[in-house]
Amino acid sequence: MSGAKPIFVDRWNRPLRDLRISVTDQCNFRCVYCMPAEIFGPNFRFLREDELLTIDEMVLIAECFAELGAEKVRITGGEPLLRKELPLFVERLAAIEGIRDIALTTNGVHLVKMAARLKEAGLQRVNVSLDALEDEVFKKMNGVGVGVQPVLKGIAAAKAAGLSVKVNMVVKKGWNDSQIIPMAKYFKEQDIPLRFIEFMDVGTSNGWDVAQVVTKKEIYKQIQTFHPLEPLEQAYFGEVASRYRYVGTNTEVGFIASVTESFCASCTRARVSADGTLYTCLFASEGVSLKHLLRQGADKAAVKQFVMDVWMKRTDRYSEERTEQTAKTRKKIEMSYIGG
Ligand code: GTP
Ligand code: 5AD
Ligand code: SF4
Ligand code: SF4
Repeated sequence: MSGAKPIFVDRWNRPLRDLRISVTDQCNFRCVYCMPAEIFGPNFRFLREDELLTIDEMVLIAECFAELGAEKVRITGGEPLLRKELPLFVERLAAIEGIRDIALTTNGVHLVKMAARLKEAGLQRVNVSLDALEDEVFKKMNGVGVGVQPVLKGIAAAKAAGLSVKVNMVVKKGWNDSQIIPMAKYFKEQDIPLRFIEFMDVGTSNGWDVAQVVTKKEIYKQIQTFHPLEPLEQAYFGEVASRYRYVGTNTEVGFIASVTESFCASCTRARVSADGTLYTCLFASEGVSLKHLLRQGADKAAVKQFVMDVWMKRTDRYSEERTEQTAKTRKKIEMSYIGG
């Protein structure tokens, strides 16, 4: 599109800047905080191929968002590296005018075989989830018994391919809090930004309880005993992590404290699930189907108008309103489906 981007905001004055698009609801892991194996077992029904958005549909949706002002696309899942033709999708995203940042969130296992191809296709950054450095702890966290090495190799492959890499660690009390300091030390030595994430009440199957959250404050205190931190400016408006630097170095460490320090006031993110449903909050109860709209013959102008109307009515600020009650009783979409 040529010309200026439309300026429109939601009911809390937040512009639309990021599109998070989930390309599959499947995953090769069963992380305890996301897809517990007891629920996502052999009989769990994942989306069929014809229920997924096609690459063409995802590209058209991304074009609409770009023309509405989105500058950043994050590819999510499930595990996005399991999606067929992912490099082709990235290549087509990279050709969209206005998209200046293409990133992907992954468990890293398939990066060894895919990082170079994805970089070549135009991917710029990957956020790799890794919750422990000790094999036994990590195997329990990921629910499928995969050790740490395949992920560390994936991270190395991503770096070698020239991708920017950050590491995400979800901390669950009594499960992997012993790994906070080892992870901090290791990634400080590697000079790779590590972000500690508070365990969130996403979906309804992860058995979330506030007692299992290790707060940013607690983690921060532990890190300080190992190496003092100093705060950094926000990298961009709406960044979810509060960033720090180890004093005397340029190595960053971050905290994503959605439970204890919510960041809804600057939330510029729209989410599209693998079956093409648009959600305006990670904790939404409902979304609207862009796939149906497209398959009924809507053109780009109609999709854009529809998205804009939805965004302008948006009032979401779940993390600011969260109570133990809403966390336990609200109908929410599973993380593996909405994409985190
Ligand atoms: P960059 O800052 O672009 O590197 O990525 P990101 O941190 O926004 O994305 P990533 O997929 O790595 O997400 C890290 C954590 O932040 C995950 O646990 C996400 O679920 C969480 N997160 C991302 N966006 C939001 C949001 O809008 N609300 C809440 N509550 N959590 C979010
Ligand atoms: N709480 C916090 N973070 C979560 N993630 C998945 N489930 C949860 C949860 N319940 C993280 C993953 C990944 C990102 C997409 O979201 O570890 O890094
Ligand atoms: Fe898979 Fe990521 Fe969920 Fe773990 S957090 S089960 S790797 S989608
Ligand atoms: Fe945005 Fe909802 Fe997360 Fe708040 S809880 S930051 S509104 S996605």
